[in-house]
Amino acid sequence: MEALDETPCCEGRAPGAAPARHPEIERRRTFGIISHPDAGKTTLTEKMLLFGGAIQMAGAVKARRAGRHATSDWMAIERERGISVTSSVMKFNYHGHEINLLDTPGHQDFSEDTYRVLTAVDSAVMVIDSVKGVEPQTRKLMEVCRMRNTPILTFVNKLDREGLPPLAVMDDIENTLQIECVPLSWPIGMGKQFRGTYNRFGGELNLFTPSQKRLPDDVTTVRDLGDPLLDRLLGTQAAELRDDMELLEGASSPFDMEHFLRGNQTPVFFGSAINNFGVRELLDTFVRIAPSPLPRMTATREVRPEEREFSGFVFKIQANMDPAHRDRIAFLRVCSGRFQKGMRVRHHRLGKDIMIGNPVIFMARDRSLVEEAWPGDIIGIPNHGTIRIGDTFSEREPLSFTGIPSFASEIFQRVRLKSPLKAKQLQKGLMQLVEEGAIQLFRPLLGSDYIMGAVGMLQFDVTMARLRDEYGVDAVHEPADYAAARWIECADKKRLDAFERDNFGNLARDAMGNLAYLAQSEWRLGYVMKEWPDIIFRKTIEIQ
Ligand code: G4P
Repeated sequence: MEALDETPCCEGRAPGAAPARHPEIERRRTFGIISHPDAGKTTLTEKMLLFGGAIQMAGAVKARRAGRHATSDWMAIERERGISVTSSVMKFNYHGHEINLLDTPGHQDFSEDTYRVLTAVDSAVMVIDSVKGVEPQTRKLMEVCRMRNTPILTFVNKLDREGLPPLAVMDDIENTLQIECVPLSWPIGMGKQFRGTYNRFGGELNLFTPSQKRLPDDVTTVRDLGDPLLDRLLGTQAAELRDDMELLEGASSPFDMEHFLRGNQTPVFFGSAINNFGVRELLDTFVRIAPSPLPRMTATREVRPEEREFSGFVFKIQANMDPAHRDRIAFLRVCSGRFQKGMRVRHHRLGKDIMIGNPVIFMARDRSLVEEAWPGDIIGIPNHGTIRIGDTFSEREPLSFTGIPSFASEIFQRVRLKSPLKAKQLQKGLMQLVEEGAIQLFRPLLGSDYIMGAVGMLQFDVTMARLRDEYGVDAVHEPADYAAARWIECADKKRLDAFERDNFGNLARDAMGNLAYLAQSEWRLGYVMKEWPDIIFRKTIEIQ
């Protein structure tokens, strides 16, 4: 198999662009990890930080996680359920590359927040548990990556356990996720027989020694698979490896950068994150093939990272991250130009110039002030509720970045306030949580209910706990008789009026004032859609 092309992947893909990109842009990689709970995302994150020198000791991410659990009640929900509901941004350096890792919560009850984080990455690493194969949450997250053709590298984890045969895992990925797999490394045995991996490009044999602490550097280069050294090192498993390689040469397609960048092909690595095994191989390839910051679409034109003027968009809002600072942080992805502390930028939704005087960058839960940032970087802007998800900032040109989705909720609950005196606080709290993307809120045209919509049940518990802790509102949630929501559009005003008259009892406005249809059942929704063929029922809308 031929060696990987060393050419930086963004060269030759930008016709008409300025020929040389600033090295600061070129060396950046912004990505997220997608996986099903328990596949090993946290472990892999930690090991990447370890290899990048950002943490000194394995266990630090979990320890940090445990430490922060003490801070508020809704985080206690995380602790109780052993999951992480907040996502953060982690920055580290690897072989001269500046890496931004955006954490995507992967538990079953995840919110829109997870989806939106994926709008701010340029590539993703998918972790698959070799024992379980492709699991439901990975499928969902993959759908989101598909929307933007995000390039994906795959890490098949837990090879130290008896799992599915590697070919079966790849078949599963190809059939379930509709993406072509190209194994760049290949495992030798598994479970107790796991001896290591063979790198198909470099001809390198990585021998496995279980270790959670050491950073393994046990690499033997075998230029020729016929080399008797292989038999000495692997015994009878050398013959198996030769057979597997022969099979792969015939059966698997070669790695194709274009296919990878379009999200049609995924390079596959095998390893064991807990044992630090296969992580270095993954990272080495990641920095070589994953794209540096890509252009982004706006309502008017494509914005290229190398443009001089600064621009960026907000993909996430987090309130009260730290009880010591009662503020909200807007997470902004820099899309072009160079950001400098104290810069005056235009907040286009409000039509106002603001000065970003105290931007922060994140290292897991820690934040520190940032002096400058480049395309691909994520900066946090503290604010008091003026910034919303989807907001665009730039120096002058009125831009509006597109592609930040809002998904129709899948489950619904009504909010019941325990003390009517707190109605104002309830509204304020709910609106802020909506702006964070934690929940969706619908106000039926009939009555004065607040109907919360979410993608998963956990969001309701989190919302109630946060209303209590952060807004002093004692409220509960109870079932609401809805099973689906769709945003309504129709160019013909008369038809829209007729639809509204006929379906008044099922109509609501979301927090942004958009008209939505709330259906009691999927069947009912299908029926109404058939009855009103000229009305558009949208499952997603773009946040503008
Ligand atoms: P997640 O963030 O995707 O939910 O997964 P996480 O990294 O927390 O890993 C889930 C479990 O899988 C953890 O065990 C972790 O130690 C284990 N794990 C991760 N990588 C490997 C691997 O390469 N091999 C094996 N055998 N196990 C692995 P746990 O018992 O749930 O937690 P802990 O007690 O180890 O913290």
